[in-house]
Amino acid sequence: MNYYNLLFLKLLFFCLIKEYHADTSNGSRHDINTQETGKQDNSTVSIEKITIKVYYETHCPASVTFFTAQLQPVVKKLGSYLDVHLIPYGHATTREVLGRYLFKCQHGPKECNGNKLHACAVDALQNNTKAVVFNSCLMQFSRHTYETDTAFVLIKCGKNLNLSVNGIWRCMDSERSSRLLKSYGDETHSLRLRYVPYILMDYSTTGQFELVDDLMTTVCRILQPTPPSCIIF
Ligand SMILES: *[C@@H]1O[C@H](CO)[C@@H](O)[C@H](O)[C@H]1NC(C)=O
Ligand SMILES: *[C@@H]1O[C@H](CO)[C@@H](O)[C@H](O)[C@H]1NC(C)=O
Ligand SMILES: *[C@@H]1O[C@H](CO)[C@@H](O)[C@H](O)[C@H]1NC(C)=O
Ligand SMILES: *[C@@H]1O[C@H](CO)[C@@H](O)[C@H](O)[C@H]1NC(C)=O
Repeated sequence: MNYYNLLFLKLLFFCLIKEYHADTSNGSRHDINTQETGKQDNSTVSIEKITIKVYYETHCPASVTFFTAQLQPVVKKLGSYLDVHLIPYGHATTREVLGRYLFKCQHGPKECNGNKLHACAVDALQNNTKAVVFNSCLMQFSRHTYETDTAFVLIKCGKNLNLSVNGIWRCMDSERSSRLLKSYGDETHSLRLRYVPYILMDYSTTGQFELVDDLMTTVCRILQPTPPSCIIF
């Protein structure tokens, strides 16, 4: 199987934006972070912290898999070496009507609600490690539950992780959740992404699919000196 067939198969699992088609005819996809900096070959340079931005939407199956199988384990193990920014918006649209923001999400209203929950968790918890773990917990509930019972999932995940969810609840219950989503929307639209999840990292990688498939290996390869927790796995 050649590279482009493989690429095409992988793209099937991502959430593509509807108007676009997977551009497998040309190697120049929207990978901004593929350039080699050569930094990881220089053992005298220390890289102690990596910034990772994750663009996603809460009901995209590939986003859920990435969160639960990649991001959460990496953050649990190497959280102190990472500065993770979550941008839960994806292929949504924003309109402003009479001073209020209205959103339309790729997977319907339940996804807008899920995106707001994630945005409020980031805002209220003020700790990226905690937010990733909390949002992974939210994602483990069925899509149906996200939509119909915000209080239920908040209480469940708050209990599981022993966190107070009062701040998240207040945010969900106010216009703050919409303002947060609007600003994530502005950031996401400016990138003109064709698919999510989409990951931006501040150091060289061999591309998007390496990041999505094996974040642990990528992060451990870049960090200098290699953290002890990288060595055993
Ligand atoms: C393929 O990408 C190159 C840039 O790498 C561009 O110049 C060219 O126009 C593209 N071809 C097609 C068919 O999109
Ligand atoms: C490693 O980095 C240092 C400091 O940036 C630089 O002076 C040196 O030339 C680099 N060595 C290699 C082999 O790239
Ligand atoms: C964030 O939360 C993690 C996990 O609970 C904790 O280890 C870490 O110290 C916290 N960071 C800050 C800056 O409070
Ligand atoms: C839960 O958190 C509270 C306050 O942060 C702490 O006093 C309590 O011991 C924690 N409980 C468990 C089971 O970790």
